[in-house]
Amino acid sequence: MGGLPKQTSVAVIGAGTMGSGIAQVAATAGHKVCLYDAVPGAAQKGKEGIARSLNRLVEKGRIDEQTSAVMLARISAVEDLASCRSSSLIIEAIVEDLAAKRDLFGQIEGLCADDAILATNTSSLSITAIGADLHRPHRLVGMHFFNPAPVMALVEIVSGLATGRDIADTAYATAEDWAKIPVHAKSTPGFIVNRVARPFYAEGLRVYAEGGTDPATIDSVMRGSGGFRMGPFELMDLIGNDINAAVTRSVWQAFHCDPRYTPSLAQEELVAAGRYGRKSGAGWHAYGADAPAPSAVTAAPAPAPNQVLVEGHLGPAESLVTELERAGIPHARTDSNEVDSAGALVLDDTVLRLTDGRPATELAAELDEGHKLVLFDLAFDYARADRIAVAAADQTDPGAVAAAAGLFQALDKDVSVIDDIPGMIVARTVAMLANEAAEAAYQGVANPAAIDLAMVKGLNYPRGPLDWADRVGIEWICGLLSNLATVYGEDRYRVSPMIRRKTWSRKGFHDDG
Ligand code: NAI
Repeated sequence: MGGLPKQTSVAVIGAGTMGSGIAQVAATAGHKVCLYDAVPGAAQKGKEGIARSLNRLVEKGRIDEQTSAVMLARISAVEDLASCRSSSLIIEAIVEDLAAKRDLFGQIEGLCADDAILATNTSSLSITAIGADLHRPHRLVGMHFFNPAPVMALVEIVSGLATGRDIADTAYATAEDWAKIPVHAKSTPGFIVNRVARPFYAEGLRVYAEGGTDPATIDSVMRGSGGFRMGPFELMDLIGNDINAAVTRSVWQAFHCDPRYTPSLAQEELVAAGRYGRKSGAGWHAYGADAPAPSAVTAAPAPAPNQVLVEGHLGPAESLVTELERAGIPHARTDSNEVDSAGALVLDDTVLRLTDGRPATELAAELDEGHKLVLFDLAFDYARADRIAVAAADQTDPGAVAAAAGLFQALDKDVSVIDDIPGMIVARTVAMLANEAAEAAYQGVANPAAIDLAMVKGLNYPRGPLDWADRVGIEWICGLLSNLATVYGEDRYRVSPMIRRKTWSRKGFHDDG
């Protein structure tokens, strides 16, 4: 199915941040755009904003002045809704309020042609609920653009109960024609991105709230080890803790207070203090001219090991053996019965193991040489990681921690020693992202490929969570989650049936194409 022909006109209702951005996208793609806002003069202001945005593109040499003028001339700022009556696609980007959106679509339906497509840019309301009172609810679809709309490629095409497949397909094809990357999603709380991303913030907040380490260290580990562009705390400060906490609360409430989405008291305390983030000058971090740059906890330099014994298979950390090779650290493989299921890197007085979701202290209690145990965190790519978190058991000798730091430093990585938190930082976050993505797939919100694409294109994740699970091993993810569930005894960490199913079938999320 094709998208809307270029000669058809598009209306955008609401000329704020999102409406202006969407109008720019549609005009850039070649459509005539009718931009309307309820506040007198706001549509014209929106158009002026678009002019500034196009000017910046001219300054950067992305488009020439003539193209910019042609694009801008396609946009008419109008002062009455009736001027949008001949549009084939009407995209609503007004205030996030169900009653206001219902009322608006009721008016639009009375004005526009029967075959017009009605789209809403809502980020959290049910498409089904918005369309419930319409005469033609099958013509309403969600087109969820991300901010800033001209820059962000992802568009979630969201279908409510009544949305016609042909309408969703036309919206999808139109978004593609507009050089966007659309994904189909079912109307459920948070759709794909705002739902699947919750653990990215929530697990960082848990590690912090449990005294694992400070926000700057968590951010550094998530960037340096996890491969994420930003850590959770700096991202919450950028989004605004008030906005981020409100999205969390709305998803949690929409899921009838499912403990998976329980908001963080630590974040709500910050919001209560007015520390919203960058916009208020302080959040998790301080901002402003003389604010100190956030600084991660970093271990003092320690000597490199003389020799490393590699026991068993290191699972998702197996590539560390290549890194030992590359760094010229003498190493040998041994077979040992002491380490049962997972492998270990054994130094003179230190046994290093990848976290499996159990606290080091629990694991140490089971090992003959528990006083030597140090756990390390998952990395996106151990070759590229520039920081690794390690955690010791309560029984561990201090010398073992220094020796562990010496090993990773010899591999050119900074080391952050954190407290003995189950699943550490990256591992528990990636496992919970995969769990949430699997749950969304299981509940038919979208297919695995669409979910991964949405997370990569909507939030710049280095890899889709389900692809990540496939690569590190779904059994490893399942084991880690089960251990978290046991340690915490919380339903929050229950394993998605889809994850279990994959461990039994031994099929990956992307095995079926
Ligand atoms: P905004 O506050 O910047 O703009 C909303 C505009 O709608 C205002 O200019 C307001 O005057 C106008 N408006 C309000 N009621 C109206 C009505 N009945 N008829 C016509 N115009 C009306 O808000 P923003 O951020 O652009 O959000 C708009 C929608 O997009 C919301 O549904 C929001 O949830 C959604 N969204 C927002 C994102 C963001 O990052 N800001 C991202 C994705 C979706």
